[in-house]
This record gives sequence, structure tokens and C-alpha cells, in this order.
Amino acid sequence: MRKLLIVGNWKMHLNTMQASILLHRLQERIRIYRDIEVVIAPSMLVLQPLSVQLDRRKFRLAAQNAYYKDDGPFTGEVSFTMLRELVHYAIIGHSERRHVFGETLPEVALKMEAAVRNGIIPILCVGETKTERLAGHTRRVLHDQVTTALKGLTGEDIENLVIAYEPVWALSDGDPTHHVHTKPDDVAAAEKVIRHNITELYGKKAAENVRVLYGGSVTPDVARGYLDVPGIDGLLAGGASVNYAQFSGIVDAAYKMRRELGAED
Ligand code: 13P
Repeated sequence: MRKLLIVGNWKMHLNTMQASILLHRLQERIRIYRDIEVVIAPSMLVLQPLSVQLDRRKFRLAAQNAYYKDDGPFTGEVSFTMLRELVHYAIIGHSERRHVFGETLPEVALKMEAAVRNGIIPILCVGETKTERLAGHTRRVLHDQVTTALKGLTGEDIENLVIAYEPVWALSDGDPTHHVHTKPDDVAAAEKVIRHNITELYGKKAAENVRVLYGGSVTPDVARGYLDVPGIDGLLAGGASVNYAQFSGIVDAAYKMRRELGAED
């Protein structure tokens, strides 16, 4: 059974003090689970202080982004090389990077290579916009995003890879009363497309090893519905992950599900 992965993307929220308080509270509440990995992706600024505070038996760290060159005159950027040993994972190709900061498919591919070159496991985000969905282009968009991102990687490189399906139209927009929930059937369809694309590139075994997550307005009350989708190995939460009760509620949902399936503590 693939390990479940619950990731909290803190986006551009929480200053150093707030981040430290949230981690402290989460560490009190969240236990060590053998078959669930809990990952937090705080802002670049707080990665270092949180790494000192972090209970490594309970949590792993992820970067939300990094630059694909290892070193050089690139004002304002942080490289994957600098993040070596600090983070286990890096989110790459998040839709906010693609759509707010204009990150292109080739740039995402270079970042994937840079992460792997530096021993960091990519959490590749893919997903269609509302316009692409309404035009019936979801499969094509997922195909293009997956295949271009993996272009420079070998079958071995992708063994630990994580891909998150995050339909852009389902991401929360900051309004806590406004949640658009993707239907589990749509998540199931996207999961199949993603694994099919990987199978075409690297074969069935590789496609089975990749962990596929769902992200988009995930809260504790809808978490289980997505976790029950066959082939979905976890969740990538945004807004809910900066709320102590909500994020621990999502982890609880994963815990409950695995216990029902007979996993041991
Ligand atoms: P929300 O959970 O706030 O919709 O964000 C999802 C996301 O973008 C995680 O990367």
C-alpha cells in the first residue's frame, strides 16, 4: 500500500512568529503515524527556523517553489541546491506560479530536473482552468502538463514522485464562505489520465509507484470523500492548512480511513 500523504501549503500566509505557533500546536496534536506522511510547506522565510523546531518523526518540510539554476546572479531567487537537506519535498508548477507568475511548461520541466538533481522530491501540481474545462480540454491540459514536466527525468527519478491534481477553478479564493467542491468522480477521472500518461512514458510499474494527491478547497468534512477515490494517495490543502483545527481534522480523516482499512498504529 502506498503511504498516504497529507500536505499543507501555507502559501503566503503567517509570519515567523505565527508559523512557529502553528507548528507548535500541530506537533502537540498530531501523532506519529506509520503509514501517513504529514508535510508542511511554509513560506521560504520560515523554512529554516521551522526546521529547527520540527519534530522529524511527525512532519517533513516542503518548499513552495525554488529556482532551477543552482547558483548565480539571479536576484530574489532561492535555488534547490540551497534547499538541500532543509526540505524533503518541493511543490513545483503550482497553478498560482503558472497563472499569477507566468511560469511556463519548460520552466516547470527545468524545476523538476533541478529538484531531482538536488535530491528533493517534487510535488508536481497539474490542473485545468475553468475555461479549459468548459472547452472540454481537461485531458489535454493534464497530458501536456504531466508529459512536459517529466521530460528530463528517468524512470528511476520518478519512483518517489508526487503529482497533485489541483483544478484551478476549485481552489479557494480567500473567501472562507466560498468553496467549490470537485466531484469525486471528476477526481477519479483525472487520476486515471495522470497515471495513463505516466504509463505511456515509463510503464505501468512506475505509474503505480507515483503518489497522486487531490487539492482544491479541501476541508475536514470533504477530505474523506476524496481519500476514498481509488488511486488517490492523499491531499494537498491550502487555506485549511493554516488553521490548526482544520488541518488536524484533515489528518484525522486520513488516519480514520487507514484504520478502517486495517492499518496498524
Ligand atoms: P485551497 O485548499 O485553499 O483551495 O488551496 C489548494 C492549493 O492550492 C494547495 O496547493
